[in-house]
Amino acid sequence: MSKKPIKKKEDPDTTGHSWDGIEEFNNPLPRWWLWTFYACIVWAIGYTIAYPAWPMINSATAGVLGYSTRAEVAQDIAAVDKSNEAINTKLASVELAAIAADPELEGYAKSAGAAVFRTWCAQCHGSGAAGVQASGYPNLLDDDWLWGGTVEDIHATISHGIRNETDDDARFSQMPAFGEMLEPEEIAQVVNFVMSLSGTPQDAAMVDAGALVYEDNCSSCHMDDGTGDRSQGAPNLTDAIWLYGGDYDKLIQTVEYSRYGVMPAWTERLSEAELRAVSTYVHGLGGGEASE
Ligand code: HEC
Ligand code: HEC
Repeated sequence: MSKKPIKKKEDPDTTGHSWDGIEEFNNPLPRWWLWTFYACIVWAIGYTIAYPAWPMINSATAGVLGYSTRAEVAQDIAAVDKSNEAINTKLASVELAAIAADPELEGYAKSAGAAVFRTWCAQCHGSGAAGVQASGYPNLLDDDWLWGGTVEDIHATISHGIRNETDDDARFSQMPAFGEMLEPEEIAQVVNFVMSLSGTPQDAAMVDAGALVYEDNCSSCHMDDGTGDRSQGAPNLTDAIWLYGGDYDKLIQTVEYSRYGVMPAWTERLSEAELRAVSTYVHGLGGGEASE
């Protein structure tokens, strides 16, 4: 038996380039590849003529077809707005309290309101509306309202905002900074008293002294029993729900320097239908109160 000689292939053409002894074959490109390549070039030239393509200083070439994704989105938005026009007009014109009585209107308001909330409110109040602990951004899920929990109250708060300087109808009140008015000892006493209001056990002698300080300096806004006053946005101090934190150091800070929570007004950025939608949404989160 003789072995068949392995047929040696002819040495292929090389380009003559050689790097460290590695040579480059000079095979022709496959036809199909080459034609696809040419077709791509033709396609690309056609594309850049037809569609927006080349970046210029301020914009890009528009393309002869005049196509624009932005215009397409604007058209889609206009179409949705048009289809919602009737219900938006109704939402903006009925009595606020009547929205909840109309299931179709309420359902629409809640879902539209949820979208408004995600876009405009979540950055401060959290995407789930639970606020941010001890940050001054209140939880909107509970029934602990600073400024009132009927749909009318909520609508007024959202429309005009709180302590902003851009809206004359904004909710406004200001707690004094007691660091300038009371001795540190008195501040320590009144903080002990405030902590005792929500059942945190404190030094009894300090609490008694603090009760007097409270009566003279705090009861006009937070009320004699500490339950607060919604007409002034003065928080309830008895419920252990704290806007700015309820530990001793945070409370000392609040009383010494005061706080000044600001919320923007929304009348200029949102339509009346959107304001009512997001008010209905917030009212329906759990803490909403019946209209008077
Ligand atoms: C820049 C941050 C910010 C944004 C954005 C914001 N809020 Fe507020 N919001 C606040 C602050 C701060 C307060 C509390 C003010 C205070 O101390 O009285 C507040 C209070 C409220 C209250 C009153 C709660 C109560 O207990 O009475 C409601 C209701 C409310 N916001 C709803 C909204 C809605 C709805 C939006 C979106 C359209 C929104 N907020 C957007 C900061 C914000
Ligand atoms: C002029 C009315 C006014 C007076 C007087 C006043 N407060 Fe306030 N207080 C407020 C308002 C309004 C807020 C809410 C501030 C904000 O939301 O930014 C507040 C907030 C607080 C908070 C924060 C509550 C939280 O949930 O974090 C504490 C604590 C507090 N006050 C204690 C006191 C004590 C103690 C005194 C008396 C030494 C006092 N306040 C006097 C109006 C007042």
